[in-house]
Amino acid sequence: MTAVTARVPAKVNLQLSVGPPRADGYHDLVTVFHAVSLFDEVTVAPAERDTVLVTGEGNGSVPLDGSNLAVRAVAALVDAVGPGCRDAPGVSIEIRKRIPVAAGLAGGSADAAAALVACNELWGTGLSQQELCEVASHVGSDVAFALIGGTAIGLGRGDQVTPALVTGTYHWVLTFASVELSTAAVYAACDRLRASRGGRPGQPEEARRPAHAGPPGPPRLNTALMAALRSGEPEELGPLLTNDLQPAALSLLPDLRRGLAAGREHGALGALVSGSGPTCAFLARDARHARDLAVALTGAGVCRAVASVVGPAPGATVIGVASEKS
Ligand code: C5P
Repeated sequence: MTAVTARVPAKVNLQLSVGPPRADGYHDLVTVFHAVSLFDEVTVAPAERDTVLVTGEGNGSVPLDGSNLAVRAVAALVDAVGPGCRDAPGVSIEIRKRIPVAAGLAGGSADAAAALVACNELWGTGLSQQELCEVASHVGSDVAFALIGGTAIGLGRGDQVTPALVTGTYHWVLTFASVELSTAAVYAACDRLRASRGGRPGQPEEARRPAHAGPPGPPRLNTALMAALRSGEPEELGPLLTNDLQPAALSLLPDLRRGLAAGREHGALGALVSGSGPTCAFLARDARHARDLAVALTGAGVCRAVASVVGPAPGATVIGVASEKS
C-alpha cells in the first residue's frame, strides 16, 4: 500500500449542556453531536520522515508541528499498537481542508480521526472502531465522535460517544466568520459569565436555564430533543436546539447576534452558535429553504461565507487506497 485517503465530516451540536469546571480544567458535558456534509480529506503515506502538509480553507492557521491534532493522533496510534506497526521510518500526512479552522466545527478533531482510520488501514493494524475511539479520547474531546459520525450522544468531556436513533435528513446552512475563536477561551468565558451572574462557576444563570435542564446539578439529556430526532420533523427539532456556550461566544463576538437574527427573520427553524463558535448553524425546512436561507444570509452581509450542508453524515471513512500496482 502506498497511500490511504480518508474523508471526515464537520459537526454541529444540537444540544450542548456544560457542567461546572472539573479539577483537570475540562467540563463534563451532555451533548448531542450531529455530523454534517462538510468534509476534510487526509492522505497518509509511508515516508523517510514524518511530514505534514495542509492545503485549503484556513491552512495558514493549522500548526505543522507536534501540536497538530492529526500528528498527535498518529503518535497516539503508534503508542497504542507499538512502533513495529509501520514499515517505513516516517509517515507523510496531507490534510485537504474544507472545514474552517477554530470555528466550532471540530475540524482539527476531524483531521485527527481521519488520520487514525487512514493509518489503521495503511499499517494493517486492524483496530476496531471501539479501539480507535479509545485512542481518539487521548487526542481530543471531539475525535471519537468524528470517527463514528451520524448523530450521537456525548458524555464525559464529550469523548464517551453513543450513536443515537435518528430519522430523516436535516438541511442546514452554516455561516462562517472571518475570525477564529479558541475553544478554551470560550469555555473560560462561559465560566466567567456564570460566576459574574452570582452562581458558582459552572452554575448556569436560572433565567437562562432551558426548561429541560431542571434544578441546578449535572446537565441532563433533553429527551424532547431526542424524540424530535426520532420523528424526523425539522419543525419539531428547531425550537429544541440549545448551546450553553452560546452566551460566551456572543460575549466575545457580539456581531454574531446579527447573523442569528437574520437567519430567524428568514424563517430558520432554529439558529444557534455551533459548539464554541464562531460558526452559526441554521436549520431549514428542506433543501429548497436551505438554498433560500443561504442566499438571504449571504445578502445580509453577516458572515464571510455560507455553506449548505445536510446531516447526519457518516464518520471518518477510507475513500481511497493506492497500491504499488495502481
Ligand atoms: O479536548 P480538546 O483539546 O478539544 O479541548 C480544547 C479545550 O476546550 C480544552 O483545553 C478545554 O479548555 C476546553 N474543553 C472543556 N471541556 C470539554 C471540552 C473542551 O473545558 N468537555
